[in-house]
Amino acid sequence: MTTRSSRLGLGSVQWGLDYGVANRDGIAPAAEVARILTEARSVGIDLIDTAALYGESEAVLGQQQLGGFRIVTKTSKIAGSSVGASDVRTLLQTFKRSLDRLGASSVYGLLVHQADDLMAPGGEHLLEALQALQQAGRVQRIGASIYTGEQIRRLLEHFTPDIVQLPLNVLDQRLIEDGSLSLLKSRGVEVHARSALLQGLLVMAPSEVPAYFEPIRHKLAAWHDACQEQSMSPLQAALGFVCDTEGVDRCLIGVQSLSQLKACLHAVELPGGFLGQGMASNDPAFVNPAQWRLV
Ligand SMILES: NC(=O)c1ccc[n+]([C@@H]2O[C@H](COP(=O)([O-])OP(=O)(O)OC[C@H]3O[C@@H](n4cnc5c(N)ncnc54)[C@H](OP(=O)(O)O)[C@@H]3O)[C@@H](O)[C@H]2O)c1
Repeated sequence: MTTRSSRLGLGSVQWGLDYGVANRDGIAPAAEVARILTEARSVGIDLIDTAALYGESEAVLGQQQLGGFRIVTKTSKIAGSSVGASDVRTLLQTFKRSLDRLGASSVYGLLVHQADDLMAPGGEHLLEALQALQQAGRVQRIGASIYTGEQIRRLLEHFTPDIVQLPLNVLDQRLIEDGSLSLLKSRGVEVHARSALLQGLLVMAPSEVPAYFEPIRHKLAAWHDACQEQSMSPLQAALGFVCDTEGVDRCLIGVQSLSQLKACLHAVELPGGFLGQGMASNDPAFVNPAQWRLV
């Protein structure tokens, strides 16, 4: 039987960069990462998401026992508005560096970190490079990390990726509502959902939420009220919502510590699904952390 826990994947930004609206602890120490991975393996979690752009994340992973884990990493972003031979060279060099840092000869997934790169003039050369890496056995599955439904539609006009990683959570239901998720499933794409906790915003005490989120404070209050009404903790409801969304194959979670992972595992195995219809904000200013201005 597939448990919800085994459908989780581990994000690893927080093991290589100091990030996260709810993070008070900075970068997780390597010894804590080792404890997290041991626990994850023991409950059947077998996917780790990383990227060349996540600071020391790949190198930290490379120091760990990674047997049994499928690693997904991502390309560097191209510099200009079109793709030239030097961009393809950079992609290949960056991927080689990722493998070196991870201490691996191949990975499960390689995603274009900025999907627009594939749609830029000359983007077909990036795709050819990914396909060549796949044929050479360096990567099993290729795909892209996306931010919007528009990117998904344009991407699918170019090719059918093996994997798409996308943002999804109670406050961000854009890709459910615009049919993107169904479209991906109709094309047989493996879907990895990130940002289930929206950098931890969804599990923060309302009194600690930064002033930036004032315009959606009523949405956050409605979210906490709904959790109470449905007798769930915010962590249980947020993770359950993403895990139970039809079309999601993997729910990526970012954890800084073993205790956070254990809290997630406990929450995700509790029975019951969260009814999250009507909870969304869907405003990119609040659901896309890249747009947050917190200082
Ligand atoms: N209270 C609890 O029990 C508990 C339990 C677990 C987790 N948490 C909190 O929740 C957080 C994880 O939330 P989540 O799983 O929903 O993940 P998330 O932080 O919303 O999503 C991870 C995504 O953040 C993006 N990112 C990368 N670098 C970034 C940067 N420098 N600044 C901002 N964003 C960046 C990455 O996407 P791109 O690659 O597209 O940039 C990455 O895929 C943890 O850090 C922890 O603080 C709390």
